[in-house]
Amino acid sequence: MRISIIGAGNVGKALAQAFIRQGEEVFFGVPNPEKYQSAAAALGPMAALGTVEQAVAASEVVILAVPFAATEAIARSVSDWQGKVLVDATNPLAAGLAGLTVGTTTSAAEQLARWAPTAKVVKAFNTTGAENMADASFARGLPFMPVCGDDAQARAKVIALAALIGFDAVDLGPLSAARYVEPFAMTWIHMAFKQGLGRNFAFGILHKD
Ligand SMILES: NC(=O)c1ccc[n+]([C@@H]2O[C@H](COP(=O)([O-])OP(=O)(O)OC[C@H]3O[C@@H](n4cnc5c(N)ncnc54)[C@H](OP(=O)(O)O)[C@@H]3O)[C@@H](O)[C@H]2O)c1
Repeated sequence: MRISIIGAGNVGKALAQAFIRQGEEVFFGVPNPEKYQSAAAALGPMAALGTVEQAVAASEVVILAVPFAATEAIARSVSDWQGKVLVDATNPLAAGLAGLTVGTTTSAAEQLARWAPTAKVVKAFNTTGAENMADASFARGLPFMPVCGDDAQARAKVIALAALIGFDAVDLGPLSAARYVEPFAMTWIHMAFKQGLGRNFAFGILHKD
């Protein structure tokens, strides 16, 4: 299977490393492919690179790993998403990590779904640091990855992808659950940067049985 990733920064590269390790091909879409030529080449023959338009055309699953501010233009640049699974890994961060610019009664993911009504939007890969996405292995259990979206099949596909790269991927149901998932990402960010815990941790779920 090929997975397209829009954005080749921290999250884009981390997810690409993890998917390639599991034998999946990735296709990066960026505004200026030349800028990322050596980064993509370093990932080997399983990584391809092109424009955003080429990346969207290349796969049935497209992961948005860009600043939230770029998402509306990207979503609207595709006139027909043809029912592709559009995975929203963004967080609508306020400047200086002061909080979220969207939330409570809606979410970045729900806004994205309005801007890309012909896509099946799924929220995932936004609640932990990029390093944990590149390598999700922890000595004591699997890190938690919440996944939500309105289309059950699309959600199942993304849950399978998150599980493939080592997460305890959990189905949170409808896309409106992104109202909780995005602030949950802020909890990780607050602990990592404001409380000084650093980036080397992840959340996990404990079960009684
Ligand atoms: N970093 C983390 O640990 C982490 C964890 C979870 C979620 N997130 C979220 O994931 C998203 C990406 O974070 P990041 O740290 O990977 O950011 P980053 O390192 O700054 O990378 C952003 C990428 O998006 C590309 N981009 C910008 N505008 C674009 C556009 N209009 N079309 C296509 N590509 C565009 C950039 O390309 P150029 O270099 O050419 O501008 C760059 O490759 C953010 O929303 C962030 O909140 C981050």
